[in-house]
Amino acid sequence: MITIVQSDITMLEVDAIVNAANQVMLGGGGVDGAIHRAAGKELFNACLKVPEVRPGVRCPTGEARITPGFRLPAKFVIHTVGPVFRDGQHGEPEKLANCYRNSLALAAENGCKSVAFPCISTGVYGYPIEDAAKIAIQETRNFLKSHRCIDVVFCCFSGYDKRVYDELLRKSESTYERKVDVTCSMEANIPT
Ligand code: APR
Repeated sequence: MITIVQSDITMLEVDAIVNAANQVMLGGGGVDGAIHRAAGKELFNACLKVPEVRPGVRCPTGEARITPGFRLPAKFVIHTVGPVFRDGQHGEPEKLANCYRNSLALAAENGCKSVAFPCISTGVYGYPIEDAAKIAIQETRNFLKSHRCIDVVFCCFSGYDKRVYDELLRKSESTYERKVDVTCSMEANIPT
């Protein structure tokens, strides 16, 4: 199921929240700063332990890494690095799609049933929200075809961003989510 909320992502009680990090993975501004502040110093220390793939790079653009959530309500933080938007002709859409794909795969591998995403790359990295939201929804939909019972939350910080997601979902959705909902509640009722 896909849900759209307007919230500070650090408040969400989900299995994993996704962080719009940078390649060094040691914190920054925006949502990254908010997550590090709320999770506490332990998150910084856990990030330090993530091995560098080359000097100064713990997580290349489009990839994802997981740490505990420490003082956050979320059990895990999935750190992913979105592309810096130039003009859309430098592989930005594919890199952004990879962020969603890899973050969702990592969430599933770690048994997460609910994952919340911020609007990756749409702040300091300059990705236009309308284009980024389309990619977020498309990649999530693809993923949910094979992982029907994971709840994905798009956590928008601004009312404008939420309206963009609402509108895109309204246009593209309808029976898809309802079918998934019914199937999940049926599965939940099957005795094991
Ligand atoms: N909760 C949810 N969303 C938030 C929060 C929050 N507490 N704070 C900011 N946001 C939103 C922004 O409004 C924006 O829509 O997160 C989205 C992504 O913005 P940025 O945090 O600037 O992320 P991004 O554009 O991917 O740039 C990443 O910024 O701080 C650095 O270390 C980070 O270098 C990296 C770069």
